[in-house]
Amino acid sequence: MNDNPIGIFDSGVGGLTVLKEIAELLPAENILYLGDTARVPYGIRSPETVIRYSFECTEFLLRKNIKLLVVACNTVSAISLQKIREAVSIPVIGVIDPGAAAAVNVTKNKRIGIIGTEATIKSSSYVKAVKALNREIEVYGLACPLFVPLVEEGWTEGTIARLIAEKYLKDMTDKETDTIVLGCTHYPLLKGVIQEVMRDVRLVDSAIETAKAVKDALWEKRMNREAGAASERKFYVTDSTEKFVSVGERFLQQEIKNIEKIAL
Ligand code: DGL
Repeated sequence: MNDNPIGIFDSGVGGLTVLKEIAELLPAENILYLGDTARVPYGIRSPETVIRYSFECTEFLLRKNIKLLVVACNTVSAISLQKIREAVSIPVIGVIDPGAAAAVNVTKNKRIGIIGTEATIKSSSYVKAVKALNREIEVYGLACPLFVPLVEEGWTEGTIARLIAEKYLKDMTDKETDTIVLGCTHYPLLKGVIQEVMRDVRLVDSAIETAKAVKDALWEKRMNREAGAASERKFYVTDSTEKFVSVGERFLQQEIKNIEKIAL
């Protein structure tokens, strides 16, 4: 059982930010990654569609005998994590609770901002997760839809990225938030520009917090592999492998090998 892989899925390439943190924290673990690149983005779709897509991704990875499922996509975690948990018998880790818990620990003035896709913000999942931990905290959600294509285009710094970040984040400055959760797989790549625009704000990276939650879950259930064991990674995508590799290597900052195109 311990040698079985961890399964991670996302709407596309963005979940590689989560894979990167998990692989760094748990280098001995075998990992399967599924990016539903043919149907990305999920963040603009209705809850019904996101739920249907996410179940197809989950079923695909379950057939590969994964020992733990990571829902790397914030949009899916926001909309269908609970449904997936109820439907499967292995542990399922999403990105919302770890990010919300970290933000609650970090905020001093009890004003937290959440940035994410339209679907994530509309679901209020982060708001609920924060409020469940501390009702006194004010939480402000803000959709930043242009950030996803900006990152995929590779424009993560420079004038255009800065102007877009300034325009979106003005709202957060007005709300006097002291903590911002990067509630989308793509946003860790914009950390630099976001921090430039909001100098005094603490940024919470959901990907890093999720990796810690994966580690805790494996340890708690004694499902972890021996430290030092050689590990394997395999990538599945639903559209062109070339495009995934070229954009994905920027996200992962490593070479992507062992990739296969599949149909869900
Ligand atoms: N992976 C999505 C998320 O974290 C961003 C891209 C999309 O909209 O599918 O919300």
